[in-house]
Parts: sequence; structure tokens; C-alpha cells
Amino acid sequence: MKQDFLTLYGLKKSDFDEIMNRAGALKRLCREGKDHRSLTGKTLGMIFDKSSTRTRLSFEVGMFQLGGLAIFLSRRDIQLGRGESIADTAQVISRYLDAVMIRTFEQEIIEEFAGHASVPVINGLTDLLHPCQIASDLFTIEERFGSYEGVTVAYIGDGNNVANSWINAAAMLPFRLTLACPEGYDPDAFILERAKKEAALGVELHRSPADAVRGASVVYTDVWASMGMEDEQEERSGIFRPYQVNRDLLQEAGSDAIVMHCLPAHRGEEITDDVIDGDRSVVTEQAENRLHVQKAILEMLLGGGKNT
Ligand code: CP
Ligand code: NVA
Repeated sequence: MKQDFLTLYGLKKSDFDEIMNRAGALKRLCREGKDHRSLTGKTLGMIFDKSSTRTRLSFEVGMFQLGGLAIFLSRRDIQLGRGESIADTAQVISRYLDAVMIRTFEQEIIEEFAGHASVPVINGLTDLLHPCQIASDLFTIEERFGSYEGVTVAYIGDGNNVANSWINAAAMLPFRLTLACPEGYDPDAFILERAKKEAALGVELHRSPADAVRGASVVYTDVWASMGMEDEQEERSGIFRPYQVNRDLLQEAGSDAIVMHCLPAHRGEEITDDVIDGDRSVVTEQAENRLHVQKAILEMLLGGGKNT
């Protein structure tokens, strides 16, 4: 049976750790310039309903490095954008492609697509979730601290797709997650309540950013208005102002704390220049790691990587 990558919820720890280990090996092979073409002749379609820099490039370059081909499919340019049904599109493009990555709005769109596709479908971000990002961020944390196990991650800001995927990850894996979101901008209630019951090391939602970051090893933030919320930008920038990750807030975190941001950043809003450019920030390494982790995910779904 085909396997999809639509959410981190339900992923077994052993499978997740295999992705982490393989990503480490792929990063070394990549850095050493060694051949690691494990997906020769395989094709990935990439449907984008929203903009992207990192996700598009990391999947496209990743497939190329693995010996395969990635095809960029903007909704505007394919018949999906002119009303061809999701079911028809999914069934037909499965006959050409070995896997599909989708970045879209509602999570239901990607689930419907995956239900009709006969090839693996990867979530490249929806309004609800961003699983590839958080899988890759846990790899960055593992690189920095030797393991993600037992680490405290503090997420400050909007209870958005990135926050929801952090919560799903904490439900499956042994790290502690604290969040601080303004009232009215909480993460998805169902995802949060489920994780509170299931997380091995706990998930806590605070209103005070200082309470959330106290003793944390990772201070993480994301934009206050995600893609599709552009008309709320002004209203949100007032409400979220106390949730800015700045030097004062960092003082409350652990002395070894690193700063992470999935990017793109709105500098001067959710994060200050001195913090994102400071010596605790790992944002560029974090962005690079999307490449290595997604290559490991592609191999897992497409059955490559046995010989390199
Ligand atoms: N972090 C992330 O997904 O970036 P892009 O929107 O540039 O793909
Ligand atoms: N929450 C952001 C993440 C961008 C990678 C958005 O959805 O726009």
C-alpha cells in the first residue's frame, strides 16, 4: 500500500528516527560531493497554490540530486485551476508521476487528493499543517544538541500551521513543547487537546511569552499573518506586538538556547534583526536542512536509498 506524508501525527518514532539518521547520511554525502542517486528515473510533481522559496527549491534540487526529476505545477497553469476536479487530477497525474507534493489552503484538499492518488502524496504546507518543516527542524535540533529527546522547544506567536505541526510532533516524540499565543489565536483545539493527553513530555499553552520560554533550549517563531491572511496583517501586528522574539525575551530562555524561524521572516515584527542575525540563530542551517530531510522522506516513500 502507498504511504503518504500528510501529517506528523501517527508517525512511529522508529520511522521518524530512521528519517533523521538517513538525513544525516545524505547531508554528509551531499557535502562531500558524493554520488547518491537513489531515485534514478523517478518523478515528483509539485502543485503550488501558494508562494514558496525553500519548499520548492529543496524538493526540486533534492529530486535532482537523487537522480530523479521534479516538475513545478502552479495551479494557475494546470487544469485544476480551471475547474478540473481534484479526483480526476489525482487519478490522472498518478499515471505519470511517482509522487506528488502539494502546497495548498485547506487540509481537506490534500486529503481528498491523497485519497484519489495511487502514488504517495507529501504535504508541502496547508493552512493547518507544515509537517516537512517540523521534521526538518527536529533534525536541526538533533544536530545542535545531539538529540531532540528531552529538549524543551518554546513556540512564540500565532497558533498556525507551523504551531500545529509542532504540537503533532510533541504528541509522537519525547520532547517538551511550550507555546505562547495571544488569546483568540490559539492552535487548532482538537490537535492541542489530543496532544495534551498523548505527549510523553507535555504540551503547554501559555499567554505569557516569558513563561513559555523560561528554561527552553529552542525559541521558535513564525510570521504573525500567514499566507492567505494578508488582509489581517495590520490588525495582527498590534495584537502580536508583545509576542516579538527579541533580546529581552531571549534572556528568559536557557543559556544554551538557539533561535529558530521557518522563514520567510518579517523582520521587526515577530523577530528583531539582532536576534535573527545573532549568534544564537540557526535559521540558515535550518533552511538548508529542509533539503536533506526531505530527500530522506522521498527515499522512504519511494523506496530508494538502499545502496548509497
Ligand atoms: N519555510 C518554508 O516553507 O518556506 P517557503 O514558503 O519559502 O517554502
Ligand atoms: N505560517 C507560514 C509559514 C510559511 C512557511 C505561512 O503559512 O505562511
